[in-house]
Amino acid sequence: MAFSLPSLPYDVSALAASGMCQETLELHHGKHHNAYVTALNGLVESKGLAGKTLEQIVAEAGRAGADGLPVLNQAGQHWNHTLFWQVMKPNGGGDSLPAQLGAKIDADFGGLAQFKEAFKQAGVTQFGSGWAWLIVDASGKLKVTKTANGANPISTGEGTPILGADVWEHAYYLDFRNVRPGYLDNFLNKLVNWEVVDSLLSSGGLKSGQSA
Ligand SMILES: [Fe+2]
Repeated sequence: MAFSLPSLPYDVSALAASGMCQETLELHHGKHHNAYVTALNGLVESKGLAGKTLEQIVAEAGRAGADGLPVLNQAGQHWNHTLFWQVMKPNGGGDSLPAQLGAKIDADFGGLAQFKEAFKQAGVTQFGSGWAWLIVDASGKLKVTKTANGANPISTGEGTPILGADVWEHAYYLDFRNVRPGYLDNFLNKLVNWEVVDSLLSSGGLKSGQSA
């Protein structure tokens, strides 16, 4: 098998009215994400990845430290973007959450506003390229964290991501120029698909269904 670029779960123009224009999605999904998939497929043979799932590859590359970085850069980014497209929708975001997710956020962060602020701060303070995450940690508690470049909470062993925001400049430069905080505010208030986040909380996280 080979890794493949998953289709967007909405039309490429569907998020434009919610702050992510068609050109951003064409470049981000069609060029950036596709390049990670192509590069990862190019590593399958030389790095002995055949038969492994994407999630296995990400976890093992993370545990390998510096030696695992060439694989993690591509495999992590393939996984990260696969989640990212799923956790957005047109006219998403806002403060109306499914009951289970809302109650869990209230219990673990003290309220939705506190969660949003923590998530935004994680993204804003990630120096350079990376990701902001909402994860379920080993004790079952929701936690906000951030990672650099192509890493993610699977590769770091921190927990199971159920929401991720790409803070590489390619994610927001056309729509928000250099204003990363504005992009993150928009993500939380107009783009997040809370129903998908809630279902990932129930199901134990995204299974990409992809393997080498
Ligand atoms: Fe990206």
